[in-house]
Amino acid sequence: MFKINRLNNIAHVGLDLLTDNYEMVEGLNTADAALVRSANLHEIELPNSLKAIARAGAGVNNIPLDKCAEKGIVVFNTPGANANGVKEIVIASLILASRDLLGGINWVTSVKEEPEVAKLVEKNKAKFVGTEIKGKKLGVIGLGAIGVMVANVAIKLEMEVYGYDPFISVGSAWKLSKYIKPSKSLEEIYRECDFITVHVPLTDTTKGMFNQDAFALMKDGVKLLNFSRDTLVNDDDIIAALDSGKVGKYVTDFPNPKVVGHQGVIAIPHLGASTNESEDNCAVMAVVQLMDYLENGNIKNS
Ligand code: MLT
Repeated sequence: MFKINRLNNIAHVGLDLLTDNYEMVEGLNTADAALVRSANLHEIELPNSLKAIARAGAGVNNIPLDKCAEKGIVVFNTPGANANGVKEIVIASLILASRDLLGGINWVTSVKEEPEVAKLVEKNKAKFVGTEIKGKKLGVIGLGAIGVMVANVAIKLEMEVYGYDPFISVGSAWKLSKYIKPSKSLEEIYRECDFITVHVPLTDTTKGMFNQDAFALMKDGVKLLNFSRDTLVNDDDIIAALDSGKVGKYVTDFPNPKVVGHQGVIAIPHLGASTNESEDNCAVMAVVQLMDYLENGNIKNS
C-alpha cells in the first residue's frame, strides 16, 4: 500500500484514478509520495520515506530540486496540461491591456443609478477609447507549449508575432509555427514589439530578467504580460518604467503588493491555470505519472 499526502486541492478526476494500492494520509511524515499544486516545499522537512513528488502544474520553483536530488526523490510536473487555460487568459489580457474594459465597467457601475445614464455614456465614452491588437507586434519569450499556443492564436488575430527561445533553434521555431518570426535575440523582441508576453520558467538566469536594462531597450509604451513567475520582473524597475511611460501596461498574474494598485498595472490573483479543464488535466497527468513510478519504476515526465 502506497501512502500519498495531498498538500493542495487536486481535482477529483485525478484522485479517483488512485487504485486500492493507495491510501491518502494526513501529513508528509510517513508518505511515499506527495501531490502538490502551489504549496512551498522549500519550507517543509522532506521525510526519508518520500520517494516522489508530483506537481499539478508546470513550474517547479516551489519544490527544492537540489534537496530532492540528494534524497533520491523523483519530481514530476505536468507540462502542457494547463497550457490551453493559460493561453486563453493571455489572449484576454492582450485585449485588456489595449481596451479600457476595466475602467469602463467600473465607471458604468458607478453611474448606474444616475438618471439619463444613456446621455452620460455618450458624454463619457471618449475616456475609454482603446487600440486594436490587429497589426501590432507581439513578442513571445519562451516557445514551450503555452508560448506556441499563444503565438498561434495571436497570428489568427492578425498580430505580427516574434518568438524567442534560447533552447530551441531558429529552424525549430519555424517548424513550430511557420508564421512566427524567429528572433535571434531578446534585444530584437525588446526593440520591435508593442506587446511582450513571457512564458519561461523561473531560474537563476531568468530571475529579474525584466529590469531597467531590459526596459531601456523596449519601445516606449510597450505592454508587458507576465503569466510565468512574479520575480522574473524586478519590482522597483517595473514601477519606474510604468511611471516614466516606458511601459504602458503591466499585466501580471501575481498578487504582488509592490505593484498591485499602480494605475498601469492589471493584477490577477494567479488565475492563469484556474479552469476546470486545466485543473482536471493537471491532476490526471500528475497522478498517472506518480502511479507509474511507484508501481513500475517508470519515469515519464510527459
Ligand atoms: C503552473 O506552474 O503551471 C501554474 O503555477 C499552475 C497553478 O496555477 O497552480
